[in-house]
Amino acid sequence: MNKASSDLCRLFGIDRPIFQAGMAFVTTGRIAAAVSAAGGLGCIATGGIMGSDELRGHILRVRDEAPGRPFAVNVLLPTGADDSATMGGVDITRMQLDTCIEEKVPVIISGLGNPVAVIDEIHANGSKLVCVVGTVRAALKVASLGADAVVLSGNEAGGHCGPVGTLSLAQAGSGRLRVPLLLAGGIAQPAAVSAALALGAAGVSVGTRFLACSESDAHAVYKQAIIDADERATTVTSACTGKPSRAWRSPFVISWEGRENELQPYPEQAVEHFWRGYAGAVEGDLEQGFFPMGQCAAAIDEILSAAAIVELLAAPAEAAV
Ligand SMILES: Cc1cc2nc3c(=O)[nH]c(=O)nc-3n(C[C@H](O)[C@H](O)[C@H](O)COP(=O)(O)O)c2cc1C
Repeated sequence: MNKASSDLCRLFGIDRPIFQAGMAFVTTGRIAAAVSAAGGLGCIATGGIMGSDELRGHILRVRDEAPGRPFAVNVLLPTGADDSATMGGVDITRMQLDTCIEEKVPVIISGLGNPVAVIDEIHANGSKLVCVVGTVRAALKVASLGADAVVLSGNEAGGHCGPVGTLSLAQAGSGRLRVPLLLAGGIAQPAAVSAALALGAAGVSVGTRFLACSESDAHAVYKQAIIDADERATTVTSACTGKPSRAWRSPFVISWEGRENELQPYPEQAVEHFWRGYAGAVEGDLEQGFFPMGQCAAAIDEILSAAAIVELLAAPAEAAV
């Protein structure tokens, strides 16, 4: 491994510089345990709505199935919306953070809101904070606030995404942070990991590749949609939450095409449609559901175990000097 990847692994106590990205509804303790046991960093997603008891159950599962291995919880930080928004609510996020602190979760990975209000208490608890951002400006800001590592996530990424592609973001941001940089968005094959390392990243954070995985809780029709997808199967839409999100062009997404001016802003659109994320991801409801998916679905043609994916993606990092 090169020095940047080794430093990243040492900092987080992992063997391989592969982070499994948090994905609402589908990355629970099951996949997080499998990834962490394989030497990467597994992540439980709260999806902004998971209750404390459920979250604690997933944390205990990871501790049971991957004893002594570091893992993460993905928390969607408040954005000023109230809890009826179902994503980014103040009270539910507070409960999730309290649970992470009580359970001394090794790593919190934040999405959505500003981490400034929570950074000190996370560090005081001995936990690390990783922030996922979509611009170099935001990366510099969270690094200066004290984030332990930063994930720069490009427009190709599944789920909420920024406007800039991963390659351009990486070139604009690489070498400018005083903390380890990971790249996300479009990474599904070993060659993409090599590219990320060549661009100066210490590691990668991978979402869509881990959806089509035996241990993800994604419904079988969702996994099949990934395998069948070509590179134009996804689009960026605000239909589910009122914030731009990359997703499969399902009937629900297509039904909004040409009617974008009728979309409500976040959180109003989310209050009405956030349930579709669960309907798609877990229930496999092709008609009503919403299916976040990255462009790299086109590069995924089989369902693999979490351990096999970690092994596959870690190989270039392990060979790098
Ligand atoms: C199904 C799905 C659900 C997601 N849910 C979340 C989430 O709950 N929180 C979050 O911070 N990011 C979420 N994301 C974004 C991922 O964490 C990750 O940044 C992204 O998938 C990386 O790009 P890739 O899909 O090209 O690998 C989601 C992505 C997908 C595909």
